[in-house]
Amino acid sequence: MSADFFAALDAGTRLQLGGEAWLLHGFALDSIDDLLPALKDVIRAAPFRHMTTPGGLAMSVATTSCGALGWISDRRGYRYVRRDPDSGHGWPPMPQPMLGMASKAAAAAGFPDFQPDACLINRYRPGTRLSLHQDRDEADMAQPIVSVSLGLPATFLFGGRTRSERPVRVPLSHGDVVVWGGVDRLRFHGVLPVAPGVHPQLGEQRINLTFRKAGASA
Ligand code: SIN
Ligand code: FE2
Repeated sequence: MSADFFAALDAGTRLQLGGEAWLLHGFALDSIDDLLPALKDVIRAAPFRHMTTPGGLAMSVATTSCGALGWISDRRGYRYVRRDPDSGHGWPPMPQPMLGMASKAAAAAGFPDFQPDACLINRYRPGTRLSLHQDRDEADMAQPIVSVSLGLPATFLFGGRTRSERPVRVPLSHGDVVVWGGVDRLRFHGVLPVAPGVHPQLGEQRINLTFRKAGASA
């Protein structure tokens, strides 16, 4: 399927990527005027930083988090923590427009009880990529991942349950939401290098939000 085909999709179109995985094209656009200012406040309170991989390299993706738990990486590994190690304080709370949009997207994809407690915020400058990985640091695998693309477009790689399975390429644009859970929860995924460009609202960057239920259910 070509990028042109996707570009021609209307907001509201949904494309099934797996048994329990969906692309909800343009799903976040309805609430974008509330989402972007809320996101800006979060980034001001918890600025982007390049975390260190367990192998000691600086990640090319810059990250921050909001919600009760935030995702970090350092020499000791990957994990969710209650405090931002840079500020020593808790992460900024998850703003209601972000929480509301993520819950609605999850429900639209067949997960009506999604209550995220973490939102990982990734910033990709042109040239930044994210290599194939599984999201497996969360305690509750019954809950899906809800991923929201903002700013510059990118090609999302959606693979199988093993690293060797060839991923499908899914073009993502501003406002697109991908939800994967259930049988698709542990699918490998990644992002090809972001092409140079300037987005009218976000400039020279792609920002991706991934909403997760990271802590154990009460
Ligand atoms: C992620 O896997 O954490 C982010 C995926 C994306 O940027 O689309
Ligand atoms: Fe991921």
